[in-house]
Amino acid sequence: RPWLSPTNQALPLMVYQTLGSTNQEAKKLALEGVKTGTVIIAEEQTKGRGRMGRSFYSPPKSGIYLSLVLRPDVAARDAVLLTTGASVGVCRAIKKVTGIDTQIKWVNDIFMGDRKIVGILTEAVTNFENGQFEFVIIGIGVNFKQPETALPKELKDIVGTLFNEKPDALTRNRLAAEIINEVLTICDDLTNRDFLEEYKTHSMVLGKQIKVFRNDEWEVATALDISDEGGLIIKNQFGQTETLNSGEISIRKI
Ligand code: BTN
Repeated sequence: RPWLSPTNQALPLMVYQTLGSTNQEAKKLALEGVKTGTVIIAEEQTKGRGRMGRSFYSPPKSGIYLSLVLRPDVAARDAVLLTTGASVGVCRAIKKVTGIDTQIKWVNDIFMGDRKIVGILTEAVTNFENGQFEFVIIGIGVNFKQPETALPKELKDIVGTLFNEKPDALTRNRLAAEIINEVLTICDDLTNRDFLEEYKTHSMVLGKQIKVFRNDEWEVATALDISDEGGLIIKNQFGQTETLNSGEISIRKI
């Protein structure tokens, strides 16, 4: 294997009852030097983090909350690609364990119908001297059955759940294991871009009109394609083609 497990040793897996955030814990451990492929899982997060400074609602036994520590041998500019690869890995795992087909909203929100069931937060620490990653944390949160009443009001119309009933422990563990395996397999061989074609088949925005939020305003655009770097190629409001690379841009379906 290129970089993931050169010594072929088992990858460390740590399971906690409660953590503030598995990403936060993974970052702490990465700074302390844990090896690539380390996995942190929690039954509950009290300060689950989402993209763009949002929080990620993570009640006990209602989802899978896990983070992977990676020390990838790719340039830091390939961060979007890692995130893209992770979302394909999650789609594969869900299909394998549940048979359910899921869709991806660029960059990496995973939907079932019009409900978001998985969020992914990638955080990286880069060495500015050589432009390589020190480490990358890929945090994945899957929503299972949640008691409706427990869901904060603002999330009720957006967030969905993968199962109608709480899955049994075996299904839950299998899904967590498959997510880890599939995501690591793709991230381990990022230069093989085959997964990008798979990404496109899951995309819920390609060929559609979307709204792009940047510079404090929404603009209408058409999503055309995914670039080799995982960027979203759009036709903007002036009819020009451009590639969006930043995960810090919000898009919506119209
Ligand atoms: C998003 O949808 O904005 C991303 C959500 C990412 C949530 C996961 S849950 C496990 C990991 N730990 C965190 O604090 N966040 C990620």
